[in-house]
Amino acid sequence: MLKLGVLVSGRGSNLQAIIDSIERGILKAKVELVISDNPEAYALERCKRHNIEHKVLERKSYTTKSAFEEDLVRHLKAKGVELVVLAGFMRILSETFIEPFRNRILNIHPSLIPAFQGLHAQRQAVEFGAMFSGCTVHIVDESVDAGPVVVQAVVPLLQEEDEDSLASRILSFEHKILPQAVQWFAEGRVEIKGRRVLIKDAKYGTLPVNPRLEIFT
Ligand code: GRF
Repeated sequence: MLKLGVLVSGRGSNLQAIIDSIERGILKAKVELVISDNPEAYALERCKRHNIEHKVLERKSYTTKSAFEEDLVRHLKAKGVELVVLAGFMRILSETFIEPFRNRILNIHPSLIPAFQGLHAQRQAVEFGAMFSGCTVHIVDESVDAGPVVVQAVVPLLQEEDEDSLASRILSFEHKILPQAVQWFAEGRVEIKGRRVLIKDAKYGTLPVNPRLEIFT
């Protein structure tokens, strides 16, 4: 079983998608530890409900960013975590955190990167007048929302689209592509060649928005 550590800051619906996929048996992994930097995060309730070990580590309890990140690493390594998932974790991580888990950290972002990086990606897409947006699972490196892409799903914008409606339609695809990406890691099929991420023996699915999705098609 692939040992996961999940970092969260809020609602935790992507964490829930991972938990549900594990419980359905389509994701062969175990959430060893969830860490929230926000004591009020609803994600912590989800952990309690599913008996998942969880911790709150607040940035303000540390004098420096690197002390905070070193402690995150320490807790994750103590649980033997092999893959870290940033599931709505609202902090930018530096090399201190990234290096010990190099190429083993995933982030979910609600746009087709490199478009609409940073905060309020869905609002950016609506305001720009884009006709397509979507979501991306990418490898986390020192850039912000710009690491190598593992999987994306395309979501068309409707004429009457607003930020909330787009966010909710994108979210339903986030909940498919994030567990999918984790499962590829669990199967040892992810090969990173520079900026390109290859999935060994990809079985192309039928979903037009994302031909590489396998476990949900
Ligand atoms: C998602 O839209 C994700 O793409 C972004 O933050 C949001 C987290 O939502 N990085 P949740 O906490 O997983 O419900």
